[in-house]
Amino acid sequence: MPVLIPVLRENEIERKVASVGARISSDYKGRDLVLVGVLKGAFIFLSDLARHIDIPVLIDFIQVSSYGSGTSSSGDIRLCKPLDIDVRKKDVLIVEDIVDTGLTLSYLVNCFSSLGAESVKVCAMIDKHERRQTDIGVDYACHVVREGFLVGYGLDYDERYRDLPGIYHLKL
Ligand code: IMP
Ligand code: MG
Repeated sequence: MPVLIPVLRENEIERKVASVGARISSDYKGRDLVLVGVLKGAFIFLSDLARHIDIPVLIDFIQVSSYGSGTSSSGDIRLCKPLDIDVRKKDVLIVEDIVDTGLTLSYLVNCFSSLGAESVKVCAMIDKHERRQTDIGVDYACHVVREGFLVGYGLDYDERYRDLPGIYHLKL
């Protein structure tokens, strides 16, 4: 039987998202900011984060695939849903549920830079360090963990648990 060990409760998540939202609002004041959520995992985080940012933003989503139904990145990343918004000369903030190996992120940073974005930075709900394979940094992290497979608040295991309001460590 899988076991779920609590990592962050709903109210702790709200506090962390509010604080990162405030930093982003101040850092991007007067800029042309586009939040780009990475589907599906970031859908809940992005919707909360956007409401904690008090400057005007544009919102778009992309979808990439690198995971099958396992728990580690294959590194073979494909873009399944491209951007609707033209990001040329705009400041892109990639919004991710979790950064693990960093392979998805380095692919996306290159992608948006080559589309002519003015700047490309990264905001993640969870910054997970242990398996990082790139030197890409997370500019805004709500919470840092060393290891473990997390679910809830948009994060899934084989499409399950995304709907949980808190974040849990899944022990299979
Ligand atoms: P990366 O390319 O290894 O950094 O993987 C990024 C993607 O893998 C994330 O956007 C998640 O969708 C997925 N992922 C990585 N670690 C976890 C985890 O602990 N729980 C759920 N999904 C994860
Ligand atoms: Mg994801």
